[in-house]
Amino acid sequence: MKSIKIEAKFDVFENLEEVSSEIQNLMHNAIEARRKAYAPYSKFQVGAAILLENGEIITGSNQENASFPAGLCAERTAIHYVGAKYPDTKITTLAISAASQINNTITPVPPCGACRQAIAEYEVKQGSPIEIYFMGSTGKVVRSESLENLLPLMFDKTVL
Ligand code: THU
Repeated sequence: MKSIKIEAKFDVFENLEEVSSEIQNLMHNAIEARRKAYAPYSKFQVGAAILLENGEIITGSNQENASFPAGLCAERTAIHYVGAKYPDTKITTLAISAASQINNTITPVPPCGACRQAIAEYEVKQGSPIEIYFMGSTGKVVRSESLENLLPLMFDKTVL
C-alpha cells in the first residue's frame, strides 16, 4: 500500500478591487447575470461569466423549476451554452458570484460538484486550464488556476 497526497492551491483576494481589471470586468458580468437568476425557491442567486479566448464573454444564471431537479446551476447554464454555440473556442476564465436574498453572502461560493464535473469536461476537451474566480455578493474572491485543482481524482473520458 502507498498513500498519495494531492495538494490544491487557492489564491485569496481580500476584495474585488484586488484582482486585475480584466477579472473585475468579468466578475461584474457575473454579478449582472446573477441579478437575472430565476431562483424563487432557494432565493439564492448565482451568476457565471465565461471569458473565451476570442475575448467574448458568455454569461448564465441559475434557472430553477417547480420540479426542483429540473432546474440548473448558473455555471452549467453558461458552459453548456458555450459548448453549443462555440464548440471550437477555448474557455480562458470563469467568474462566479452568488448572493442569497435572505442572508448576506460574504463567503466565497465555489461551484457545486455537478458543475465541477461539467466544467472538467470542457477543460479536458480543450486541453488547457480554465481559471476560476468565485465570490459571494461581496468580500473575498478566491482563484483556482484550473478546474482540476478543484476536482482531484476527477472522472473523465480517459477512464472510458
Ligand atoms: N447553484 C448554482 O447556480 N451554482 C452552484 O454551483 C451551486 C448552486 C444554484 C442552484 C440552486 O438554484 C441554488 O443555487 C441553490 O442551490
